[in-house]
Amino acid sequence: MALITWSDKYSMNIKEIDGQHQQLVKMINELHDAMLNAKSKQITLDIITKMAEYTQKHFTTEENYMKQYGYPQYAAHKKEHEKFIEQVGNFKKDYENGKAGLSYELMNFLKDWLVNHIESTDKKYAPFFNSKGLN
Ligand code: FEO
Repeated sequence: MALITWSDKYSMNIKEIDGQHQQLVKMINELHDAMLNAKSKQITLDIITKMAEYTQKHFTTEENYMKQYGYPQYAAHKKEHEKFIEQVGNFKKDYENGKAGLSYELMNFLKDWLVNHIESTDKKYAPFFNSKGLN
C-alpha cells in the first residue's frame, strides 16, 4: 500500500507544480516500497539520489516563480526548502556510509514533511500565483 495517496486537497491549481508534487509523492512511495521489499543498497541509493535531485529541481521551480512575481514570503519559504535539502543530504551521506538505514521513522518524516509543507507553506502562495495568471 502506498505511504502517501495524492488528493485534490493538495492541489495548488498550478499544473506544473501539482505535477512536481505528484512526482515527489511517487518517489517517497517508491522509497517506502524499497524498504518494505528490502531492496539492495544500490537500488535504494539510486532512489534516494533521484529523490534528492528532483526535490532540488522542484524547490528551484517554486523559488524562481517567487522571485519572478515578487512573492513576499520568499525568504521564509526558501529557508524551509534549504533545511529539508540539508536533512535529506545528511541522511543520504549516512546511508552511503552505512551509518543509517531506511526506517519507519524516516518514511514518516518524509511523508509528514511533504504533506505539511504542501498544505501549509505551499498553499500560501497558491492564490498569489493564481492571481498572477499562473495555473
Ligand atoms: Fe512544493 Fe515549497 O515545496
